[in-house]
Amino acid sequence: MRMENTLTLNKCPKDAIVIPLFENHLEDVSIVKKYDKALHTALSKLLKPGDFKAGFGSVISTYADSGAFKRIVIAGCGKLREFDTEKLRRLIAQVDGIFQSYNIRGYTVFMPTLLPFTSSDYLSGKAVAEAVVLSRFNFITFKSKKDKKIKGLNVVFWNAPKGDFQKGIKDGRVIADNVNTIRELISMPSNVLTPVKIAETAQDIAAKTDGITCEVFDEEKIKSLNFNGIIAVGKGSVNPPRFVVMEYDGSNGSQKKPIIIVGKGVSFDTGGISLKPWSGMEKMKYDMAGSGVVLGVMKTAAELKLPLKLVGLIPTVENMPGSNAYKPGDVITMASGLTVEVISTDAEGRLILADALHYACDAYKPEAVIDLATLTGACAVALGSKACAIMGNNRGLIRRFQQNADNAGEKVWELPMWPEYDELIKSDIADIKNSGGPGAGTIVGGVFLKQFIKNAPWLHLDIASTSWKDSSEKGYLGKGATGFGIRLLCEILRNWNA
Ligand code: BES
Ligand code: MN
Ligand code: ZN
Repeated sequence: MRMENTLTLNKCPKDAIVIPLFENHLEDVSIVKKYDKALHTALSKLLKPGDFKAGFGSVISTYADSGAFKRIVIAGCGKLREFDTEKLRRLIAQVDGIFQSYNIRGYTVFMPTLLPFTSSDYLSGKAVAEAVVLSRFNFITFKSKKDKKIKGLNVVFWNAPKGDFQKGIKDGRVIADNVNTIRELISMPSNVLTPVKIAETAQDIAAKTDGITCEVFDEEKIKSLNFNGIIAVGKGSVNPPRFVVMEYDGSNGSQKKPIIIVGKGVSFDTGGISLKPWSGMEKMKYDMAGSGVVLGVMKTAAELKLPLKLVGLIPTVENMPGSNAYKPGDVITMASGLTVEVISTDAEGRLILADALHYACDAYKPEAVIDLATLTGACAVALGSKACAIMGNNRGLIRRFQQNADNAGEKVWELPMWPEYDELIKSDIADIKNSGGPGAGTIVGGVFLKQFIKNAPWLHLDIASTSWKDSSEKGYLGKGATGFGIRLLCEILRNWNA
């Protein structure tokens, strides 16, 4: 697929052109005159009856009888003041969706009526590329009849200023391609994607990407490191656990302390002995979404050559019931030495993350530790599928996430971690228990993880709410795996030293 910006009419696909217009700014259509007289005449004709108000999401189209382009679509951008990069993504996804069903090779988007009103050329370029690539994702690996045509539809942006917009398109494409790769991985059923397979995927990414190294700890090594949370959760499954360590240093040695990203990699979560109800359980294949984000971010950071030192950690297990499974009431001595009473074997994510977080603080002197996990169903109760929950021990780190979320199009909402909540995980017989309350399910998950952080700025993202969509409410992400977190982290890392 060709996706680029051009100043030359000759390079534009002539099958169709999209003209974005804002509400109450329909006179802006006169800008088109400068570039193509015939096109402007056709547009004036189309607008003359006054039916089209350019509300966001409204479109009007016609076949042209003269001029350079065969089909003309005017796309409503809504109110100028309400327009942002997220609206831009949705706008482009909408028009791309229209043309996906047409029998054409490409289309052109006219930029001079739009781009001057967006916040930055780079972010806009990134947004449009993301919109096109993400909205074309389709998980068809297990369909015997595959329809691949839409992937080839060319998109040319006409008359955006050269430079930043083009750079944005390039970066956005790299990011979105990697998000789609990870959406594919998250969608994989657990009979195919076992913990060993997740570790092999990490090694495969490292082998194919310049600058990434990868080491995988097998069960024996995991035992020798006393990662007893990982061992306990993984015990019930015939598929053995793994622990993945990925490293990337684009800082030329100038950054001493790495930024560590940790992702929950539960290839399937049955709940274990505290078995989940059957309804919706098939979706628990996405309980490794956090590990997918780690893989996606490491790959993207290396491909964009970000000048940072990064470490990616993935504890990965399958949570199964069975005669060898861990049980409610068990007490586990974690890698950090803390003892944990198991109340629910379904609160397994925090047990495997605890060992990983301890390792992050112990084996490295991290500049920051960021973990992502589909940790609690309560997260979706609190926030729906519109935002993930964030919690942490460092204001600056939390602020980074809040400031970059809007541009990335991935929303975050902070939950409190007041010391009052600590008592919710007190155990009668061990140091702490793995499930507490009453209430505050998502916070309790965060408070549990906090016990394993030693002297490091730390931030926890509960992505249970946002990693999977049951319907395609938002223009550019369909049903299923979203890859949530990759775009946000890439945007944060890009601005890390700014
Ligand atoms: N993987 C689940 C959380 C989850 C639920 C993710 C729904 C996505 C959609 C997690 O391991 C879990 O089971 N959490 C329990 C915690 C409880 C036992 C304290 C939950 O949310 O019920
Ligand atoms: Mn669980
Ligand atoms: Zn889980």
